Amino acid sequence: MFELRDRRAIVTGGGQGIGRAIASALLSRGAEVAIVDRDAALLTATATELGVRGLVADVADLQATRATLGQLIADWGRVDILVNNAAVLSTLPFHALDEVEWDRVMAVNVRGAYGMCRAVVGPMVAQGHGRIINIASVAGKRGGGLFGSAAYATSKAALIGLTKALARELAPHRVTVNAVCPGPVQSAMTAGMADERKARALSSVPLGRFAQPEEIAAAVVYLSSDEASFVTGDIVDVDGGIMMD
Ligand SMILES: NC(=O)c1ccc[n+]([C@@H]2O[C@H](COP(=O)([O-])OP(=O)(O)OC[C@H]3O[C@@H](n4cnc5c(N)ncnc54)[C@H](O)[C@@H]3O)[C@@H](O)[C@H]2O)c1
Repeated sequence: MFELRDRRAIVTGGGQGIGRAIASALLSRGAEVAIVDRDAALLTATATELGVRGLVADVADLQATRATLGQLIADWGRVDILVNNAAVLSTLPFHALDEVEWDRVMAVNVRGAYGMCRAVVGPMVAQGHGRIINIASVAGKRGGGLFGSAAYATSKAALIGLTKALARELAPHRVTVNAVCPGPVQSAMTAGMADERKARALSSVPLGRFAQPEEIAAAVVYLSSDEASFVTGDIVDVDGGIMMD
């Protein structure tokens, strides 16, 4: 089960954290993987350690990523899986959230994911097969608060909207589009969280702990696999129970 042999997968923000764990998990199921990251040093180190292709690119720079991905997909001859994982966090309260910060978050978290989708959808439709998985956040469902600013929450809610809209549009072509909504995860993104904020975040998690990146990656492996062929437009919570009804 969850065999990904002969599948070609692109993971953005794969230099560290959840993206790295996703790349490693897809690789372990047999996929050929390329990671995209704007941090060249992180990217090179991780690509070398995992033995995958590394592409230095800022996902917010649509022209550059279009060219880079075009070359990769031409080399591969196909692309099966796209994981939009790259994102930036913002924790500024609304009174301090100026338009520069707003645009910074939207450029990476929303426009970046849009640009990556645009780059792969043509080949996926032509193949009649594809899997797009967007890494959203509980912040996009319940509002930011402890889990990020209004800009971050809005960007993740937008990603959920993009997931559903694309899922509808691409369903006739057998391209599925789903999102994973993590709760708090142990990574560089949460490492700098003040102790008091961390404790409050933890108190909202029924399972009482932060996730490990591999626990998010496992959901991505499932959604990438043939076994998930009847799942599209779904928003999968991997959040220790935060969002349970
Ligand atoms: N860590 C959490 O608690 C948590 C919770 C919910 C959702 N998420 C989401 O999971 C994803 C991964 O989070 P993480 O904790 O691993 O983050 P992280 O900050 O540890 O890693 C993010 C990676 O993305 C790269 N990146 C950032 N902006 C980029 C850009 N413009 N172009 C290319 N690469 C870029 C960074 O260089 C880094 O390698 C994000 O979408 C995040 O919003 C994280």
